Amino acid sequence: MSTTKYISISSQKGGVGKTSINILAASAFHFLAKEKVAVIDCDYPQHSLEGLRNKELEQLKASPEKAAEFQALGQQAYPIVGCTVKEALSIAKDMEGEFDLVFIDTPGTINVPGLLELWKMLDYVFIPMEGDILSVEATLPFAAALQEFAKGKPGSRLKEYYAFWNKHIKSEKQDFYVKTEELFAQENIPFLKSRLEHSVNYRKEGMRSTMFPLSKEYLRLGIKGLIQEMSEIIFHDQAPQAMESTPAETDETESL
Ligand SMILES: Nc1ncnc2c1ncn2[C@@H]1O[C@H](COP(=O)(O)OP(=O)(O)OP(=O)(O)O)[C@@H](O)[C@H]1O
Ligand SMILES: [Mg+2]
Repeated sequence: MSTTKYISISSQKGGVGKTSINILAASAFHFLAKEKVAVIDCDYPQHSLEGLRNKELEQLKASPEKAAEFQALGQQAYPIVGCTVKEALSIAKDMEGEFDLVFIDTPGTINVPGLLELWKMLDYVFIPMEGDILSVEATLPFAAALQEFAKGKPGSRLKEYYAFWNKHIKSEKQDFYVKTEELFAQENIPFLKSRLEHSVNYRKEGMRSTMFPLSKEYLRLGIKGLIQEMSEIIFHDQAPQAMESTPAETDETESL
C-alpha cells in the first residue's frame, strides 16, 4: 500500500492564502520533518508557485553568496511541477510511492475540467479563511462541494477537510471567530485549533521561499502550531519523523 499523502490548502475564495500556505507547509515538512515532498502547481494560468521557484533559481544563478548558502543547507529543493488541472491527476498518480507528501495548489473555481477527479486524489484538504463574512460565505459551499463530490465517494481518497483561520487579528474582538466556529460545528465542518496571524512579514521574500527553511521569527506567526496540527492529522496512522529545529532555533529547547 502506498504511503504517499496528497494534501491541498484550497478554497474557492481568492486571496485567502492558499498559495502562501501550500509553500509554508511544503517547506516545513521538507526542511524540518525531512519528509520527501513534491508540489504540483495546477493553478493555471497563475502558476504562482512555479513562478516563485523560477525566480529563486534565477537569484541563485545571479548570486554566488546565495548559491553557497543553498549548498550549505546540504538538502536538495523539493520538485515543483507546473501543469493544468487535467494533467495534474496523472502527474499526481505517477508520484505515488515516490514521495511522502504531495502538496497541490489548485485553482479556486470549482467548474474547471478535471478538478472534481483531482479532489478524489486528495487525502486531506485544509481551507484557509479570513475573518470576514465573504470568506465564511465562500467556505460553506466549498466544504459542501467537497462533501458532495469527493468525501466518501467511490474511488475517492478524501478522508477529511478542515477549515482554519488565516490572517487572524488577535487585537480584534473575537466574537466573529467564535460564532463562525460554532456555526461550522453545527454544520459538521471540522475546524483546526491553529490560527495563522496576520503579519506584514508575508510581504518579505524569506516568508515565501521554496528553497530555504523558514526562520524562527516567521515560525512564531502560528505556522509552527499549524504544521504540528496538520502533521498529527496526516500521519495519525503512522509515526511521523520528528521535526528538527531550524538553525536559528537551536538556542531554544522547544523544537517543532
Ligand atoms: N497570514 C497572512 N498575513 C498577511 N498577509 C498574508 C497572510 N497570508 C497570506 N497573505 C497575503 O495575502 C495575499 C494572498 O495570498 P496568496 O496568494 O497566498 O492567496 P491565494 O489564496 O493563493 O490567492 P489566489 O486566489 O490569487 O490564488 C498575498 O499578498 C499574501 O502575501
Ligand atoms: Mg494562489
